[in-house]
Amino acid sequence: MAFLLIAGSPTSHSRSAALLEGVARQLQAQGGTVARLAVRDVNAQALLHADFSHPDIAATAAQLAQAEAVVIATPVYKAAYSGVLKAWLDMLPQAALQGKTVLPLATGGSPHHMLVLDYALRPVLQSLGARHILAGVYATDAQVQLPAEAAAPVQLAEALQQRLDDALRTLWSELRTSRRRQPSDSVAQPALP
Ligand SMILES: Cc1cc2nc3c(=O)[nH]c(=O)nc-3n(C[C@H](O)[C@H](O)[C@H](O)COP(=O)(O)O)c2cc1C
Repeated sequence: MAFLLIAGSPTSHSRSAALLEGVARQLQAQGGTVARLAVRDVNAQALLHADFSHPDIAATAAQLAQAEAVVIATPVYKAAYSGVLKAWLDMLPQAALQGKTVLPLATGGSPHHMLVLDYALRPVLQSLGARHILAGVYATDAQVQLPAEAAAPVQLAEALQQRLDDALRTLWSELRTSRRRQPSDSVAQPALP
């Protein structure tokens, strides 16, 4: 199973990216193949000037096209998702998420903006043709402790870890179901956990 994990924060020392990395480790431990895309690494001029011909735009769209499922993480910025994530999403083909299952994640300073997942991010993912958008996981900053060293695992509050575990179980189950619905897939697929 090929997952693309998309980090939507403009910062390098990022809580939402750390949360996403925690998910990456879990998916890999469960037998998933994980690719990573940090939107902050996409050429900034291409994003700001809507340069659709820039190779970064084509490369990231191709990376997305190869994924069976997507986990996308964003910080809450001014009661919405990050601007850099929007700038990149705007550059994608209209059906970029067609046939894909998406798990959205967000981190915010306070719990008051958890509806960003449903009222801001979800409609955009829907407009890109996502087949199934799972219930998202929202974390407050207090629930995500950034590791001192980049390579160390992120520390998550227990309640958050449980919600993440539930979300990943749902993600795998949804992917199993969707494979059963598409028996015409001629390519041999690896077994799912
Ligand atoms: C420009 C900016 C705007 C923010 N706006 C909000 C907000 O509206 N609501 C909120 O709960 N947190 C807000 N925050 C806090 C971030 O969402 C929070 O710290 C988040 O975990 C940062 O994620 P990151 O480290 O991945 O960038 C804001 C932070 C910044 C820098």
